[in-house]
Amino acid sequence: MTLIPIIKIGHPSLRQTANPVEKFDQELTTLVDNMIETMRINEGIGLAAPQVNIMLRFFVIDKKLINEEWEAQAYINPEIIDARGLDSYEEGCLSIPGIRAEVDRPFMIWVKYQTIEGKTIEEELEGLLARVFQHEYDHLDGILFIDRIPFIRKKMLESQIKEIEGAFS
Ligand code: NI
Repeated sequence: MTLIPIIKIGHPSLRQTANPVEKFDQELTTLVDNMIETMRINEGIGLAAPQVNIMLRFFVIDKKLINEEWEAQAYINPEIIDARGLDSYEEGCLSIPGIRAEVDRPFMIWVKYQTIEGKTIEEELEGLLARVFQHEYDHLDGILFIDRIPFIRKKMLESQIKEIEGAFS
């Protein structure tokens, strides 16, 4: 396993749109394994490819932290087809260390994605798994959770965010 450096806010790649995964090869499998290891070492519940400066549309989620019987999984070329309900939950992000804030998101989502074997899956997700899926999905479009918090709250966090950007740029 190889740990991969996680880029932080201020790095331009975090604001770019990632490209579809086309090759389901050994390189992708190795990358997914390394991202899962990197996510766990950094105590994250999810990690999107753009956060390790790889501009491809996939992310990993450590589902084991949600249900012990589940395993960490890669979601490749994901789509959110439908969403229902509303839920507020405190989020953080490995690319914005030290910042946490309540974010409103749908509670239940209907998603479509490919597995590491290239198989297409459609399923309904809810609760924390739906939450993490949406957070990671945003990364593929250059969106960060701080873009989804109330303006006043973002204003309050502005100087802290600037400090992180300064430290890592
Ligand atoms: Ni994040």
